[in-house]
Amino acid sequence: MAMASATAAAHPNLALVKYWGQVDPVLHIPANSSISVNLSGATTTTSVTFDAQLPADEVVLNGQPAEAPAQRRVSTHLDRIRDLAGVQSCARVVSENDFPTAVGIASSASAFAALSLAGSRAAGLHLGKRELSVLARKGSGSAARSIPGGFVMWTAGQEDTGSYAYQIAPQDHWDLRIVTIAFRAQPKEVSSLEGHRAAPTSPFYEARLRTVGITLDVVRRALLQRDLSALGMAAEREAMSLHAVAMTSRPDKQPWMSGIYYMEPETLRVIRAVQQWRQEGLPVYFSLDAGPAVHLLCEPAHLDDVTTALGALFEPRELWVMVSRPGRGAWVVENNLDPAA
Ligand code: PMV
Repeated sequence: MAMASATAAAHPNLALVKYWGQVDPVLHIPANSSISVNLSGATTTTSVTFDAQLPADEVVLNGQPAEAPAQRRVSTHLDRIRDLAGVQSCARVVSENDFPTAVGIASSASAFAALSLAGSRAAGLHLGKRELSVLARKGSGSAARSIPGGFVMWTAGQEDTGSYAYQIAPQDHWDLRIVTIAFRAQPKEVSSLEGHRAAPTSPFYEARLRTVGITLDVVRRALLQRDLSALGMAAEREAMSLHAVAMTSRPDKQPWMSGIYYMEPETLRVIRAVQQWRQEGLPVYFSLDAGPAVHLLCEPAHLDDVTTALGALFEPRELWVMVSRPGRGAWVVENNLDPAA
């Protein structure tokens, strides 16, 4: 292969049942299964070109050469693809997010989903959805869930090939709106990888794992029945379960921290407001990730009321808002295997 390239795109996803804690930190085998929805409002687009002339992998992220840790993480992922395809060449990777990286929306899910699809196609592989999900998972656990479209279950599995995500309902199954609210940029003190590692030190981790099976059933049923209040209440308790574990776990690299706090005052302000809005009759529910951003779930008919209520809570310059629908799975934008190209 002299030169072969492919471009692929993927959305990030919001977990309704969270992935928090791993049984295998190298292969990213999670301690529990999780359920998510892809976020149509944000896209990562990634091009991969294998080029026999390149002396080393080149990685450009949002127009800038990647810093060493990101470069290594991408190269390690390219090695997985090279191993699968029997390709030796180095590659040029160019990746763009159509959303500001600085607002703190986790982009590793869309990034590793798009990289897995573009990289495997450029290497001449046509992996099935399940194999692609397994591959993306090794880049970043939650990336496994950005491969299938719509509403997705990631089955934890026991070993490498058994841990993958699949669709439980297509994106047009339920015309939900997800309003993502991010606040001013601040570097994350504790990465999700460190958070996963610290989770078992929380006394509530075992309790979470004992009950998460019931939550998976409740959320799956609520999704299939399009029951927003059942889904929303379960999603809120799930988000707080992750944070309860994080706040009571001991990060090994930050001995000065008694626990991991991802929330900011603004996060709590939205949470309290959401409960009040519901009491006043507005059906809207929240979810959180391992960061200060908040995701709100509502039906399209209530979107305007939700954004108006948010507008009354913050100055426009204080926040960044993105509205999503359930999004499609990772897709190929372009694939050129012509050696003369
Ligand atoms: O894929 P990671 O290792 O960045 O973990 C993501 C963890 C959460 O976003 C907090 C929860 C989830 O299930 O996506």
